[in-house]
Amino acid sequence: MGDLFTMVTARADYEQGVLIILDQTQLPNREEYLALRTPEEIWEAIYLLKVRGAPAIGVAAAYGISVCMQSVETAEFDGFYREFSRIKEYLASARPTAVNLFMALERMETALLGHRGEEVGLLKRVLREEAEAIRAEDAAACRKIGEHGLSLLNPGMGLLTHCNAGHLAVSEYGTALAPIYLGQERGYGFSVFADETRPLLQGARLTAFELQKAGVDVTLICDNMASSVMKQGRVQAVLVGCDRVAANGDTANKIGTSGVAVLARYYGIPFYVLGPTSTIDMNCSTGDEIWIEERDPAEVTEKWYSRRMAPEGIRVYNPAFDVTSAGLITAIITEKGIAYPPFGDTFREWK
Ligand code: MRU
Repeated sequence: MGDLFTMVTARADYEQGVLIILDQTQLPNREEYLALRTPEEIWEAIYLLKVRGAPAIGVAAAYGISVCMQSVETAEFDGFYREFSRIKEYLASARPTAVNLFMALERMETALLGHRGEEVGLLKRVLREEAEAIRAEDAAACRKIGEHGLSLLNPGMGLLTHCNAGHLAVSEYGTALAPIYLGQERGYGFSVFADETRPLLQGARLTAFELQKAGVDVTLICDNMASSVMKQGRVQAVLVGCDRVAANGDTANKIGTSGVAVLARYYGIPFYVLGPTSTIDMNCSTGDEIWIEERDPAEVTEKWYSRRMAPEGIRVYNPAFDVTSAGLITAIITEKGIAYPPFGDTFREWK
């Protein structure tokens, strides 16, 4: 695995009073860590994808709010809780689609309210402990997702993945990439195609980077090449992550995922979604209810080019995610096991 797992996506440094994140916008060229002190800095880091990936933004928000609350000077529970609520609402507004951001902040609030009226020193400790628990549970869930995912794969398979649902997107291992890392440890000899993932290139910048660093046989392809490698018989399974899974199994993930699912169905290739059960949102009955983030047109027209590549004033539609219909998904793999259609029955047992 090389030194991949020594890279830490988000952690708290309480002595310095900062949230430390690996700045993913600098990868693969520079491994640079940022120290964030204020809610505004943390919000911006999440919005600009300096820390990104559904579980990782949940962990970063939990550590972030915990760090910010350590310096709040009040002796009253009510004043402390008012400030917590203000920061919580603010951080939750950074990105709308990944449910993990909201879940992590809700969990922090529930922990705090479990100690209503108690002294502020204790409340600060409760927040520190809850953030740590969220991170530890995420890491443990990823390992189990890897084991369940690997049980569906055979040595020597060709795999295709979209976006980055690896170590960089979580606390450890990843979701979609977890079976690949476990397989690597056990000599499965997978060969992996990483879609570049327009427009922000998480596949090229992050998945290609981390799989290569771990010594996995990885080939980078443009998004529009997926059909070609599938047709050539070089892909036996597709593995992707998820930002929010509705109660019926409809799944929001990085834009382009649903197109890959359609291709996989056409070529008869299993399409697997991998994520922790915290990504299943039983409050959304179908994918139609998932709020899809729209982002800056400049990400499409100019961000990666030395000069603008589209006419000035052109209308751009830049949704960051799409919804893959449950009917295109072969199985949804979580830390609790593997769900097959109809997904809702299994989800109700798990949640
Ligand atoms: O916009 P991003 O980079 O945060 O999008 C990330 C994805 O779509 C991932 O596939 C998803 O969050 C799962 S990460 C384990």
